[in-house]
Amino acid sequence: MKLLLTPLLASSNSMQSNLVRFPIAEVSGNSEQTLKTASSKYDCAEQQFQYLLATEDLDNKLDAQVSIVSEFEATLRSAISETYEKGYGEDDAHLFLQRILYGINRLKLFWYDDLRHYSNERSLYLSKVRQQIEAAWQNWELAQIDVAALQLLDVKDALIKRAAEDLDPPLSSESRYIREEMSIEGYCHLLAIASFDGLVEGSRLSRILGGAANEVQCTLIRVLLEEYGNGRLSRKHSTFFKAMMAEFSMNTVPEGYFDLVPWQVLASANHNFLVTERKRYFLRYAGGLTYFEVAGPAAYRNYLTAAQRLQLSEAAMGYWELHIREDERHGRWMLDDVGLPLAEQYPSDAWELVLGYDQEKLMGDRAAAAVMRSIRRAEHSASLIK
Ligand SMILES: [Fe+2]
Ligand SMILES: [Fe+2]
Repeated sequence: MKLLLTPLLASSNSMQSNLVRFPIAEVSGNSEQTLKTASSKYDCAEQQFQYLLATEDLDNKLDAQVSIVSEFEATLRSAISETYEKGYGEDDAHLFLQRILYGINRLKLFWYDDLRHYSNERSLYLSKVRQQIEAAWQNWELAQIDVAALQLLDVKDALIKRAAEDLDPPLSSESRYIREEMSIEGYCHLLAIASFDGLVEGSRLSRILGGAANEVQCTLIRVLLEEYGNGRLSRKHSTFFKAMMAEFSMNTVPEGYFDLVPWQVLASANHNFLVTERKRYFLRYAGGLTYFEVAGPAAYRNYLTAAQRLQLSEAAMGYWELHIREDERHGRWMLDDVGLPLAEQYPSDAWELVLGYDQEKLMGDRAAAAVMRSIRRAEHSASLIK
């Protein structure tokens, strides 16, 4: 259904973009009362978690926080059971679980903030909470994939065929909407959500690079070097993302729009943390990154087309242009110099490359659909305000 949107002003510039409003209130499904109760229950449990996270030497202070710990754990258990075990969890339960998981995972990266924020980095309690969520969540994710069928595939052939299809897929209705209709408000909303990853791009790749030297490792390092602008901040991909946001006077602090990030996007990030932190999943990570780099240019071409139609400045679209060029190369490197050689080196586990590829695609598509729903709601709200 086509949305009724206020026509755009003749041209866009940073003054016009100041009209963009954040954050957009988001509600979905159910009766208002149920939503209110559920969201306040999860809000409360998230605050309890944040309190525990900020407690210096948490593992040795748990006894002094018995009521907070037990209330938080009761909400956690019921959210896990409803969402992953009984399978009828609402979006707010998914969001609560992914935000808690992300709150723990993000300690693997350094944010150049107060050093005390990292005092519980190795907390056994936090690690138990992460394990509890991850175990149930990952079973739920895996149940959506026919793993037995993947194990029968000719892996090299499967990767080559998938990459060829995903390099230049037919335009979906969502792609067409982005290219032909998405408004400036929608574009900024996209930047706000995408900044969650765009401003720290490549960070998780850095976690899997150490170890024995070979061609695979060197290719991954080459990808990382390009993502990091060969060590020059001005050429770092995240700098290009920041420049796009600056064109609209948006907040360029990492996680600045965290509250807009849908659970599906958080799930992709958390999955990425899992497969980079566990070397047992190295093949899954390599398969996933192959998809990510191969499929990138097609998505970025949609965003670039939208930006050109909206007559945005060069800086407001530079990141997409850069990635259309570089990710085509990264995709080829990942397939030819990482995926295929790993399939030869690990013949009996090679199917895990395809599992990683397919999961990245499934989760990426799910996240993209959620972002589109969020963009349409933001555009609708903006049209009402106008
Ligand atoms: Fe990049
Ligand atoms: Fe890339």
